[in-house]
Amino acid sequence: MSEKLKIGVFGAYRGQAMIDVLLNHPKAELVAVCDKYRPALDKVEAKAKENDLKVALYKTFDEFENHPMDAVVLANYATEHAPYAIRLLKAGKHILCEVLPCETLSQAVELVEAVEQSGKVYAYAENYCYMAHTFEMWRRYENGDIGEVMYGEGEYVHDCGGIWQRITYGEENHWRNLMYSTYYCTHSIGPLLAITGQRPVSVVGFETMPAPWMVDLGSKSGLPGGVIIMNMDNGAVFKSLHGSLKREPGSVNYQVYGTKGMMESNRWNGEEMSLYIEGEELCKGELSHYKPEKFVSADLAKNFAGHGGSDFYPTHFFIEKILGTEEGKKYSIDVYQAIDMGLCGIMAYRSILTGNKAVEIPNLRIKSERDKYRNDHACTNPEIAGNQLLPAYHTGTIDIPKEVYESVKNKYELGK
Ligand SMILES: NC(=O)c1ccc[n+]([C@@H]2O[C@H](COP(=O)([O-])OP(=O)(O)OC[C@H]3O[C@@H](n4cnc5c(N)ncnc54)[C@H](O)[C@@H]3O)[C@@H](O)[C@H]2O)c1
Repeated sequence: MSEKLKIGVFGAYRGQAMIDVLLNHPKAELVAVCDKYRPALDKVEAKAKENDLKVALYKTFDEFENHPMDAVVLANYATEHAPYAIRLLKAGKHILCEVLPCETLSQAVELVEAVEQSGKVYAYAENYCYMAHTFEMWRRYENGDIGEVMYGEGEYVHDCGGIWQRITYGEENHWRNLMYSTYYCTHSIGPLLAITGQRPVSVVGFETMPAPWMVDLGSKSGLPGGVIIMNMDNGAVFKSLHGSLKREPGSVNYQVYGTKGMMESNRWNGEEMSLYIEGEELCKGELSHYKPEKFVSADLAKNFAGHGGSDFYPTHFFIEKILGTEEGKKYSIDVYQAIDMGLCGIMAYRSILTGNKAVEIPNLRIKSERDKYRNDHACTNPEIAGNQLLPAYHTGTIDIPKEVYESVKNKYELGK
């Protein structure tokens, strides 16, 4: 290859994970980074210097988007990915998008169409699909080891109470303070869809009571536990659990039951998993417990440790897909599957708001399904929803006194 791909990163907090991969990838180079928060840019500048590289740093998106580059990583606010992705796709850039893919159904439709019209690569950076256990389950499933999926469970339980000041900075309308229970769902659901290749067709959602300590920190939903039950297109049923529930360390846990066996991760030791494969005789088979090894680009991947080693792969497969390699085409998550993952949470909240009734998940691959949702802006963000605003908790948005945000901001500024 004569020249490396030129890639920029928008959002340099979580974006540091992608920046680290790009600074050390043989087929791409980091050319520009944008963040309005100067200390985040200073960190990038120091890393670039260490690597003897020149990286352009921008505080505003308008300046950043004019930098010459082939592709952009979106690691900005989770609810603002789709509008920026659409704008950049129209400008001819390939996109790697952090979680989540969209805030509304209207954005989902527009995003799918922007990808189709641009002919550019859109890849979804759901790194939880590439953890040691989930990626191994993907390989095992593809290999036919457990047959066809009948039931799956995914769990992402992460009580962010201890770090809330660092990730919301005391900003009342930070996306995390407006987030409802089922929105941040793709860490738990994403791997199940990637492993099995199944599409969700309908969902039922449930939420627990608000977490009192999250209300005290400014969350307008109280970030309850969220449960999503999905009917899949082959007749299987999947369940997802996530949210602020008490346990440390958090749970990143998956189970997949098939017609010939099952596999599951170890709830208290994420490095291990178990596999049961039925033999010739019914109900008799082999059970094994083991620590999976990386099996794709393992030499390169071992240099990156973030999130159980999974942080390397979204960026790597994105690069490989742009370059048209089999590895990239096979493992990079496309816009349709990204939208399937994200819509499970959006539609599950609709279900919660209607008293837990089942809600259909549109298949946006089909053009005729799109019109119904083109003007659907319902979400918990007043700036986007207009007169379709949803409450952040099913009985109503929780009223939080201004002093709460001031106190969180103080804690953040004191570095607590
Ligand atoms: N995959 C994972 O494991 C994982 C982990 C953490 C966060 N995330 C995702 O990463 C993304 C970013 O989350 P975060 O934790 O970094 O927190 P965040 O959303 O608060 O930070 C986003 C960063 O983007 C910058 N930014 C946003 N809009 C901007 C604009 N218009 N101009 C300039 N700068 C702007 C902010 O200053 C901030 O540094 C989210 O989508 C989140 O869901 C993913």
